Order: sequence, then C-alpha cells, then structure tokens
Amino acid sequence: MLNNKSIGIFDSGYGGLTVFRSIFEQLPEYDYVYLGDTARAPYGNRSFQSIHQYTWECVQWLFEQGCQLVILACNTASAKALRNIQQIDLKSQDPAKRVLGVIRPTAEVIGNYTQTKHIGVLGTKGTVQSGSYVIEIGNFFPDVKVYQQACPLWVPLIENGEYDKPGADYFVKKYLDQILAQSPDIDTLLLACTHYPLIQAKIKEYLSPGIKVVSQGDIVAKSLVDYLQRHPEMEASISRNATQKFFTTTDDTADFDHYAEIFFSAAVKSSFADVKC
Ligand code: DGL
Repeated sequence: MLNNKSIGIFDSGYGGLTVFRSIFEQLPEYDYVYLGDTARAPYGNRSFQSIHQYTWECVQWLFEQGCQLVILACNTASAKALRNIQQIDLKSQDPAKRVLGVIRPTAEVIGNYTQTKHIGVLGTKGTVQSGSYVIEIGNFFPDVKVYQQACPLWVPLIENGEYDKPGADYFVKKYLDQILAQSPDIDTLLLACTHYPLIQAKIKEYLSPGIKVVSQGDIVAKSLVDYLQRHPEMEASISRNATQKFFTTTDDTADFDHYAEIFFSAAVKSSFADVKC
C-alpha cells in the first residue's frame, strides 16, 4: 500500500493517460496512481465477463494502494463493467469508495457540440455493442441522433506503435468512411475511446473542415473538478502532495514508459503491478 490517498486512474493500457493528462493539468495538487492493464490489453474485442473481471481486479488493486476514488479512463470498461462494479462489487468494500466512468460525463455535454443534431460515435467493439452512448446521449439530448462505428483495429495499431505509419491510413479512412456513410448530416465525431486522441490529427486529414472531432480528456477532467466540488467529503479524503505514480501489469516497464510518454506528453517511470488474477 502506498502512503498517499490518491485518485486512481485505470485503463486497459495507455489510452487513459490522455485523460490523466487533462485531469493532471486541471487538478495538479492531488496524488495520483495510474494503472494500465497492458498485459491483457486490448479489452475492446473481449467478452463482457472478461472485461468485468479484469476491470474489477484492477480496481481492487488500486483500492489496495490506498485509492478511495477510481476513474475508469476507458470507455470499454465504463460500458461493460462500471454498472456491475457500482451496483454489486462495491458492496464488499468500504462504503466511502467510489468508481466513476467516462461515458456519462461525455454524454452530458456532447449534444452541445452539434448544430445538425447528428453525432457519430467511434469506439471499440465492446463500447459500440453495449449501446451505452446511444442510451446515455438519448437521456440528455433526446433530439440528437447518434450513429456508431466500431473501429476494432485502431487500438491494436496504437498500442503497437503503428498509428503514425503510412499503413495506418487505410484503417483510419476505412472506419471514417463507414460512419460518414451512415448519415451526410453528421457534424460531430466523438472519439469514444481514450486511445484515439493519438490519431486525431490523422482522422482530421480525412474529414471536411466542417466536422468537429471531440476527444474526452478535458470533458472528463472538468467533470471530475465538478464532482469533487459536489463531494467535499471525498475531496477532503484525497492527499495533496502532487505525486503521480504509474503502474503496468506487463513486466517490461521500460517498454511501457516509452509509449506512455507519448500518451502522457511527459516522461513516465512505471513499476510493475502484481494484479491478482
Ligand atoms: N482505451 C479504451 C477505451 O477507451 C480501450 C481500449 C481497449 O480496447 O483496450 O475504450
């Protein structure tokens, strides 16, 4: 167990670091523990049972490190595991512990970006199949039409460092063509996977300038600022030594650090996390 009472941030791999970056920029004073389950990533094409089991194992590990609040900075885990964790698994823990996801805060604001009321959601197979964005955006913006496209090859390209190579262009264009073919009125594309900001520049190359591309980092960070203001007891329980600790479930921490630096836009020095499976 670490000494600090940190905010835990979890993703299947590196993607959550794009969210962590924005959180850290807005709330630099807190202590953070980041955990990437890189040994078992990607989660996107896995079954509901596996995603739930892996996510809960990682959340428990973060609790064991002293985290009271864990952010699932992963859409796939938020779509497939969050509800079970909140409604069932957390009952076995200290009642003050909380786990939050990234889908609801995004759904709360995404309707404000569109003029045409037609939004495209790009995500992993797991996120798209769950229908979570269609349901959640429908709750907040009933007049917005939501189109979805699974992009199963984007995370593997990103996790393997191939995202900026010429071969990636084919798959970037392929999924964009597929979502835009669903409606000529889409004016907003949501990157509903925390890995995708890495290919945001490439995505924009294939879009007309009238289409906005929205990533989640700042949205989730603002929502956390708001959450901590509304929950002073949680805010008071988090320590403020401005530390960031990084953990990965793969034993090649040097490899993790190399890629993590690209996602986090700063040097990363990680340690191995022995998550109980
Ligand atoms: N970064 C994760 C997300 O936001 C997904 C990655 C994966 O497939 O593991 O959905």
